[in-house]
Amino acid sequence: MCGIVGYTGEDDITTALGRGLEKLEYRGYDSAGVALAESGGLRVIRSVGRVAKLEEKLRGVVTDARCGIGHTRWATHGSPTEINCHPHLSFGRRFAVVHNGVIENCRKLRELCEDRGISPVSDTDSELIAHLLELFFDGDVISAVRRTAEMLEGSFAVAALHAGEPDVIYAFRRSSPLIIGVSPGRCGVASDGCAAEGDTLLLGDGQYARISPAGARVWENGKRVSPGRISGFAVGSHGTAGYAHYMMKEIAEQPGAAARTIESLSRRRLSGSLAFIGCGSSYNAALSVLPLAEHSARRGASAFTAGEFLLTEKLSGRGRTAVAISQSGETADTVAAAREAAARGWSLLAVANVPRSSLTRVCRRCALTQAGPEISVATTKGFTSQVAALAAMLARGALRDEVRRLPAAIEKALAAEADAETAAELFAPDKAAFFIGRRADVGAALEGALKLREITYIPAIGLAAGELKHGSIALIEEGTPVVLVHTDPALKDKTLLTAATVKARGGRVIAVTHDDEVAAAADLALRIPDVPHLISPAVSVVPMQLLAYHAALRLARDIDKPRNLAKSVTVE
Ligand code: AGP
Repeated sequence: MCGIVGYTGEDDITTALGRGLEKLEYRGYDSAGVALAESGGLRVIRSVGRVAKLEEKLRGVVTDARCGIGHTRWATHGSPTEINCHPHLSFGRRFAVVHNGVIENCRKLRELCEDRGISPVSDTDSELIAHLLELFFDGDVISAVRRTAEMLEGSFAVAALHAGEPDVIYAFRRSSPLIIGVSPGRCGVASDGCAAEGDTLLLGDGQYARISPAGARVWENGKRVSPGRISGFAVGSHGTAGYAHYMMKEIAEQPGAAARTIESLSRRRLSGSLAFIGCGSSYNAALSVLPLAEHSARRGASAFTAGEFLLTEKLSGRGRTAVAISQSGETADTVAAAREAAARGWSLLAVANVPRSSLTRVCRRCALTQAGPEISVATTKGFTSQVAALAAMLARGALRDEVRRLPAAIEKALAAEADAETAAELFAPDKAAFFIGRRADVGAALEGALKLREITYIPAIGLAAGELKHGSIALIEEGTPVVLVHTDPALKDKTLLTAATVKARGGRVIAVTHDDEVAAAADLALRIPDVPHLISPAVSVVPMQLLAYHAALRLARDIDKPRNLAKSVTVE
């Protein structure tokens, strides 16, 4: 949630900050702002809405600043108004601050400020950080930074300007990532590798830095340290490469992403007693591979949403492995669940797309997916790479060869686009839609429903097909679209019965299948190649992604940045 950027150097400052904010906008986009270190003092320019609106505001700005910080926000403390928007100034305007994360003791800190006669103007926890910096400032900013960081409980990545040093950015962090970019004569800071330029250094947990055009100096507990250099960070691949949206570009990138992932994990094995943990699509990926895990390990496996895992009775993990799945590696619930699992004695494996993310630092063992940067808020290649990664590590015997064929099958599934576009006409915002399937198809169906919900705002319900008749069928009326995923030949009779039951009530069946008979029983078929049921979700999900995309396009939705959402949910 939220993106931080900072720049100091010779480039035009508003252009440099705008460039970074555009790249980070997918992290949060309800308001944005910058602070510029001008010779006459700190100047803050903010606006509600997208980065483009801020850039419009910045266009006519005349400034002598060569250093600044910027922020794009996804509101947690306080609504998305200009007052709550970052950067926040301290009471004496000597410090400006941008912040990612959540300050858990903000009520106590607010009282502390009020006791000193400071009246915070916003509803945010972030503003308090600026006030603390000024309160603790006695001529040495680094010691004010250190004292401020010590006062904060919770997670934070902070970039700050001090009015007395117009070419310096101060940065400090705990639990939220912050990356320093160093190039000759210019330096920067960013909360995400995609916006870091030059050589990238990861500011460690509890470290703080002074960044100037000459380079970065980093401290920890009062001592100078060298920050870790990041290699293999997923930088680049920005821009939509001619596609109308990142989502479509990322859908098209899926065969390559799956191929790289499978190749890189071809020698890894995942076995034993397993519990998969994730949120949203990553949880759906867990559900998608549960039958495969049970089949391969010949014992039960379980899947938890990370939030629920945290609430379970203290399940002992002795002899068991918790597989924490996250595209971003920054989802707060998943990171917290992984920490909790470690504390309960589970052995841990992270399946993440972003190396050097919070999750990969918590888990000793990692299996990285190779999807490359994913920008669209709705995940596509992130999901299929997760399923491909887990399938590569779980499959045994002949299934392993089938896993290697997944990228080609995903490529073929992309051919369903024209039919998906036709099927999209059956969906409307005031009409519920269903996505159903059995066994491994449940995970795929839930993911299909989530895709449609998040980018079209159509109430889409994902269910195990057998559950339909236990209540939800009451919603089916003339024209209700029901996407029926069928990939397991052994379940064909059940699938045909479900299709008939839906049609008898006026529902329109859209089958996602390789099977001719099931396709013929449906009103419309989205054909996929025949792949073994246990690994099929990586393929069957593709037509549903295309369906969601075209339905959103018809409704003129903001496809890459749906309302109320952010790419990674870094608050619990
Ligand atoms: C998927 O399209 C969503 N944007 C969301 O459910 C996402 O999968 C979830 O927030 C988990 O993210 P992660 O994989 O980065 O942990």
